[in-house]
Amino acid sequence: MDLTLKVWRQKNAKAKGYFETYNVKNISPDSSFLEMMDILNEQLINEGLDPVAVEKGCKSSGPVSFDHDCREGICGACSLYINGRAHGPDDEVTTCQLHMRKFKDGETITIEPWRSAGFPVIKDLVVDRSAYDKILQAGGFISVRTGGRLPDANNIPIPREKAEESMDGAQCIGCGACAATCKNGSAMLFVAARVSSLALLPQGKIEGARRAKAMVAKMDELGFGSCTNTRACEMECPKHITVSHIARLNREYLCAKLSD
Ligand code: SF4
Ligand code: FES
Repeated sequence: MDLTLKVWRQKNAKAKGYFETYNVKNISPDSSFLEMMDILNEQLINEGLDPVAVEKGCKSSGPVSFDHDCREGICGACSLYINGRAHGPDDEVTTCQLHMRKFKDGETITIEPWRSAGFPVIKDLVVDRSAYDKILQAGGFISVRTGGRLPDANNIPIPREKAEESMDGAQCIGCGACAATCKNGSAMLFVAARVSSLALLPQGKIEGARRAKAMVAKMDELGFGSCTNTRACEMECPKHITVSHIARLNREYLCAKLSD
């Protein structure tokens, strides 16, 4: 496949960004999107500061910075906006699991970083997603003791449907696609996935009220917007986490506030 890539370049957080156009040739339809980006970067490294490229109007011929780690759909690092969609045109996959066969030969592909006030651009396609870590640190964990004179966590029976729903929420990989795709820049699906997942388990219930209030307060403090039920987050979540978890978060939060 031969492709034209319109890639967002930005030297640092304060610099003005712009789109740079590159051409890549002979890309296998079986290669992953990130492998295609690797090929582009190899090409850019080999070109160096090629005077011909500069003459043609290339403002930057150095490699493009983009985030990735596991390349297996589990770490959430590969945050790219591709042709106007978080993680690209395929459903329920992360960018690292997206394959080039989803595109047509000769296609122009636009590649941008996450667009959200909560995720400022660091360089090119790399954004700072540490806001999600801060929201988790505010309460997205369990600190109750188990074992000893208390029943072991694994010995407490949990109805199967509750366990499965909890595991659905626990699949969140913190990729940030939910906030990046939401017109309000809301992180509700991310917060809801953790609050709901833990609220469904006996061990998580104990700190449920504190957790819901603390995580929502931190999300608001960090500048994420409000949820207006557009469900765009659910559409773009690579782990198919549904807005039913947001409904549970709202119930948990309301009950916590009423019992203050
Ligand atoms: S809820 Fe889905 S889209 Fe949002 S951070 Fe988790 S996995 Fe990513
Ligand atoms: S690189 Fe880890 S989920 Fe894509």
